[in-house]
Amino acid sequence: MKVSASFLSSYYVEDDIMKLNETDVDFIHVDVMDGKFVPNKTLPFRSMKNIYKYTSKRLDVHLMVAKPKKLIKKYAQLNTEFLTIHVELDEDIQSLIDLIHNYGIKCGLAIKPDTPIEALDPYLDQIEMVLFMSVEPGAGGQSFIPETLIKIKEFKKKMKEKKLNIIVNVDGGINLENCKKLRQADILVSGSCIINSDNFQETITKLRGGKNE
Ligand code: DX5
Ligand code: ZN
Repeated sequence: MKVSASFLSSYYVEDDIMKLNETDVDFIHVDVMDGKFVPNKTLPFRSMKNIYKYTSKRLDVHLMVAKPKKLIKKYAQLNTEFLTIHVELDEDIQSLIDLIHNYGIKCGLAIKPDTPIEALDPYLDQIEMVLFMSVEPGAGGQSFIPETLIKIKEFKKKMKEKKLNIIVNVDGGINLENCKKLRQADILVSGSCIINSDNFQETITKLRGGKNE
């Protein structure tokens, strides 16, 4: 189990990143919003880029944007492990997956709570990760949607049948209680649970299930 720390709801991003540097967190989850695909908007890349020079952690970039092409090019220049776009986009998903792969970066597809997992079918043999949204994308600090657990279970079953090995990443509303039900996942994104805690490392270790795997 790996942990990807997000800080969408935090104003003192640099401070939080410095504190995360002192932990063994696996990734920094970067939420990028355009005010179109989701109502909120994040800072432009030129500011975001400065923020990420404060860390040497690999980035898990979540693009909640309607037109990701230009941002893929930009975020591909950072220390990026995953570049994730939404499967719901009204765009040529295939060419965006290819673009991400052309940069030698792992491609993730994010899926909103109400989108059935069948939407992922055309891309399953090409992507490295699925980001299951367990809240509506757009804001940190929301409550976990329990139906996500059923979706992940069905997806895992499908992966087994198809003999595919896709990383399962879960994003939104994860806390020290519901993380116990998410042992089937490979990565848990956590914003408020880590950032609002007194001891980041302790929380990260607990989210992993108490042990560093
Ligand atoms: C939701 C974002 C999440 C969010 C997670 O749109 O994609 O990454 O920051 O924050 P918490 O853990 O507070 O739900
Ligand atoms: Zn996210």
